[in-house]
Amino acid sequence: MDDRAGCPANERFDPFGPAYLADPYPTFAAVREETPAFYSDELGMWVVTRYDDCATVMSDTDRCSARNAQDPLLPFGPRATAVLQDGFGFVPTMTNLDLPEHTRIRKHNLTAFSNRRVAELEPVIRDITTSMLDSMLAEPRFDWVSGLAFPLPITVIFELLGFPDSDAEMLKAWTTERLVMLFGRPTDDEQVRVATNMRDFWGYCVDFVARRQRDRSDDFTSALLDIHDADNSAISIQELTSVIFGLSIAGHETTTNLLTNTLWLLLRHRSQWDEVCVDPSLIPGAVEESLRFDSSVNAWRRYSLVDIELGEGVTIPADARILVLLGSANRDPRHFDGADRFDIHRADARRHLSFGKGIHFCLGAPLARLEARVVFEELCRRAPDLILADQEIRFAPIISFRGPTELVLERG
Ligand code: HEM
Repeated sequence: MDDRAGCPANERFDPFGPAYLADPYPTFAAVREETPAFYSDELGMWVVTRYDDCATVMSDTDRCSARNAQDPLLPFGPRATAVLQDGFGFVPTMTNLDLPEHTRIRKHNLTAFSNRRVAELEPVIRDITTSMLDSMLAEPRFDWVSGLAFPLPITVIFELLGFPDSDAEMLKAWTTERLVMLFGRPTDDEQVRVATNMRDFWGYCVDFVARRQRDRSDDFTSALLDIHDADNSAISIQELTSVIFGLSIAGHETTTNLLTNTLWLLLRHRSQWDEVCVDPSLIPGAVEESLRFDSSVNAWRRYSLVDIELGEGVTIPADARILVLLGSANRDPRHFDGADRFDIHRADARRHLSFGKGIHFCLGAPLARLEARVVFEELCRRAPDLILADQEIRFAPIISFRGPTELVLERG
C-alpha cells in the first residue's frame, strides 16, 4: 500500500471536474510548476507531470510495471464481476504485461502487424474515407465524429483482424463504452451493460479464432495463427484471442479522437488549415503536432516496483499506482520551445509521448498515422471551405482519452 504521510498534494488537480475535462492544459501548467509529482487522493494515484519524469516512468521497466494499464479505475461492483466471471477469458498480452513475457508476445504481433499489412490497408482506408465523406459532405451541416471519426477506425481495425463486414454493426455496439469502464467512473448499471458486452464480444472472438483455425485468410488473425501452428509455445490460443479482443479497443477511439482533435485544432488555426489544404505534404507534420498539442491519450498508467526518485527530489514509494500525464509532458516548456503554441511546422513535434515510450511503444502508431494522413488528404482536397459550427464542445468524463464527443461542421 502507498505510504501517503507527507506526500505532496495538489488541490488544483480535479480530473473529473468540468473545467479540467474541457481544457486540462491550465491545470497541467500549474501542477507541473508547483508539484512535479504529487499524490491524488481522489484517484488514489501518484501523478507525474514533467516530460523527463514521464519518460522515465513510462520506459523504466526495472522500476515500473505496466500491470495496471488496463485495470478499471474503480474496482468492478459485484454484479459486473459476476458477469465477467461467466466466460470472460481475457489474459494480459501486451499493454499490461511485463518482461520477459511481453517480449514473446509483442515479437509475434510485430510480425503479424507487418509494414506490408499496414501499407496494404491504404487503399481500403481511402475507399472507406471517400464513401463516408460523400455522405457527409452532401449535407450542409454534419457531425464529424459520428459521420467519420468514429466509424472509420473501427471499420479499419475489423478489416485488419478479418472480421466479416456483415458483423460490423453488432461489433460496434459491443465495443463502444468500454473506455468509461476502464478510465472513468461508470454507474453500477453501466458496469453491467459494458461487462455484458465485453463477455459477448469475447465469445465472438473465441468463435472467430476457431473459424479462422479451420479456414485461413490474408488477415492479422490468420498470420498470428500461422505463428501459433509453427510453434504453439510462441503464443497460445487464449493469448491470441486476447490480442484480437484488445486491438479492437486499442485501435479504435484513440484514433477517433486523433482525427477529431486534429480537425478541431486546424479549423481553429485557420491559416494552418489553409496551408495544409494548399500543400498536403504538410499533413504528417500537422498530425504529429496535434498529437503533441492535444493528444487523444493524455494520461497512462504504471505501477512502482521500488521507490522511484524523480526530478527535484520527489520520491514515489514502492507499490504505488501512477498516472503519467502525457498531455502535460507534451506541453513541458523544458522540452518544447513555445510549448503552448500550435505549429504544424514544429521540427521536434514527433518527440511527443502520446504513443508512450520504451518497450510498450504503441504498436498501432503506423496505422494511426496512416489513417490520419489519408483522411486529411481526402478531406482537404474536397472541403477546404469547411468551418466549425457554433456549438458547445463536450468531452467524456474519463481520465486517459481526450476528444470532443461531437464536432459539428458546415461548408463555408
Ligand atoms: C492516435 C492513436 C493512438 C494513440 C494516441 C495510442 C497510444 C498508445 C499508448 C499511450 C500506449 C501505451 C504505451 C506505453 O505503455 O508506453 C499504446 C500502446 C498500444 N497501442 Fe496504441 N495508440 C493509438 C492507436 C493505436 C492503434 C490504431 C492500435 C492498433 C491497431 C494500437 C495498439 C496498441 C497496442 C497493441 C499497444 C500495446 C503495445 C505494448 O504494450 O507493447 N494503438 N498506445
